[in-house]
This record gives sequence, structure tokens and C-alpha cells, in this order.
Amino acid sequence: MGIGIDLGGTAIKGGIVDHLGVIQEERMVETQSQLGYGQVLNDLVLLIKELHRLAPTEKTVGVGIPGILSADGTTVVSCPNLFWKNKPLKQDLERALSLEVLLVNDATAACIAEAAFGSTRGRSSSVMLTLGTGVGGGVIINDQVISGAHGVASEVGHMIMEANFYDCGCGKNGCLETFASATALIRYCRKQLAEGAESDLKAAENFDARRIFEAAKAGDSLALAAVNRLARYLGWAIANISDLIDPEIFAIGGGVSSAGEFLLERIKTETKSHLTYPDYAMPEIVLATFRNESGMIGAANLCHFI
Ligand code: BGC
Repeated sequence: MGIGIDLGGTAIKGGIVDHLGVIQEERMVETQSQLGYGQVLNDLVLLIKELHRLAPTEKTVGVGIPGILSADGTTVVSCPNLFWKNKPLKQDLERALSLEVLLVNDATAACIAEAAFGSTRGRSSSVMLTLGTGVGGGVIINDQVISGAHGVASEVGHMIMEANFYDCGCGKNGCLETFASATALIRYCRKQLAEGAESDLKAAENFDARRIFEAAKAGDSLALAAVNRLARYLGWAIANISDLIDPEIFAIGGGVSSAGEFLLERIKTETKSHLTYPDYAMPEIVLATFRNESGMIGAANLCHFI
């Protein structure tokens, strides 16, 4: 059993997860990042305390964070979508809780969960891509989680694809995240609507990525163009990553992956047409078993894997 937290751009999810990766209890609160670090810290503490009451024998909690950590794993160096810089999160949480806190990148946690219990189990090299508020990456090569010299390896969301019409939360322009996240999908549709595109989405006051996929599946031309655009950039990214490290398998997770086969087929086609050796070295590309829950499951089982 373990307690795992996935701190995301829109929600903080927490769960009690058994050693086979099965979620026994789950709780969720909104991420109030607009109210600053103190508020999010407070909400994290309350959520962890509630879960700890249900699993009082637990001594540690794993927390997946949407950004990069210092090499010693104590400080959040940067979280582009929460606008955090240099926050001593481990110390702040441990002061408020009677638990040891293990911090990990959210997509790395997701990658661990899929490799231990899900879609990439049994494969010695795998890449996890999480598509949500941001785009996260986790990489395992020869059964080792890759974190790099400074802990920023696998930050695939910030690979530059080409210039884009808005800047990334990290401050750069052209990051994969601005083409292939849920946020990117919504911003692209809004921009096209503002420029006069015709679409069923026009009638919706506010729409999310799920609504865009529904419209695309129903044949809406703007929504379809937006989904195809997302798949194209992801395909490029997967082809580039494959040329660099040639993993056996890619798992696609995060909220956007609930679009299922409709999205997966497009990503596979785009990858194949941009790989250098498509007939010889096409990686397997699958939906993550735990979709948007992988991060939480991986965080809960951290102490067994890293
Ligand atoms: C961050 C990553 C994170 C991803 C998904 C990106 O903006 O740089 O560290 O994994 O968002 O949350």
C-alpha cells in the first residue's frame, strides 16, 4: 500500500494504491494555482492528511509535481504551469506532516506506473508521454529511469518544434507543449474562432479538450483540424525521440489520451511518416493503461522503484 499524489495544473489527485497498482481510495481537489504556492501547499497538506487517516500505517507519501526538481529531490526548481520557481516543497510538506515526502516529476511517476503495472510492463525501454495542461515525458532505458545530469532529462514538452502563435509557460516559444497539450488544443480552437472559423464549438461558451474531441469525432472541421494538428506535432516528436533513443514502446497518457483510438491512430500515422526507418524501427505506440491515473499510481509506489 502507498499514498500517492499527482499535482496537476487543474487538479490535485491523491490516492491510496496497493502494491499491484490498484487504487483503493481516491480524492481530488482543484489546483488553485492562481492563489499562489501557499494555497496549493495548504491544499496538498489537507489532502495528504485525509488519505493518511485512511492509511495510518503509511510512513511515506510520493508526490508527482509538474516540473523539474533539484538533484537532491528537495526543491521544485521550476513548474511552468504553476508559475513556481525554487520552492522547498519537501521541507514545507514534511514540516506540516508526520510523513517522509518523496518528490518526483509527474510524468516520470506515470512512466514508472506503466512500466511496473501497465502498458509498458516487461519492456526494458519505454517512453511515457502525458498530455494534459502541459506535455510531460518519462524515459526508461535498460530498466533505468533516466533523469540526466541536472534532473531535466525527458522534459519532452519543451522540445522546440517551430514558432507558434503564443509563448509557453516556460518562457520559450515553439515548445511541443504549445502544440500538443489540452491547453494548446483549446487555444488553437479559440484563435481560429476569433478569426472567423465556422464550428459547432462557437455555440459553447467554454469548451474543454474533451468537447473538442467529441466535435472532431462528429466531423466538425475546426475540431478535426485541431486534433490533426496535435497528432502531427506529437508524431514529429515521437519520430525525433525514436531517432535519438529508439525505445521499444511509447505510452500516451494524461487527460487527452481519453480520446482513445481516434487520437492514437492519427499519432501512429504521423510518426510512421516522419521516422527515418519506419519499416525497420517503428516503435509500438499504445494508450497508457491508467490514462490520467498513472502519475498517482507511480507516486504511490515510488519507494519500491527509485
Ligand atoms: C513540465 C514537465 C511536466 C509536464 C506535465 C511541463 O510543463 O515542464 O516537468 O512533466 O509539464 O505536467
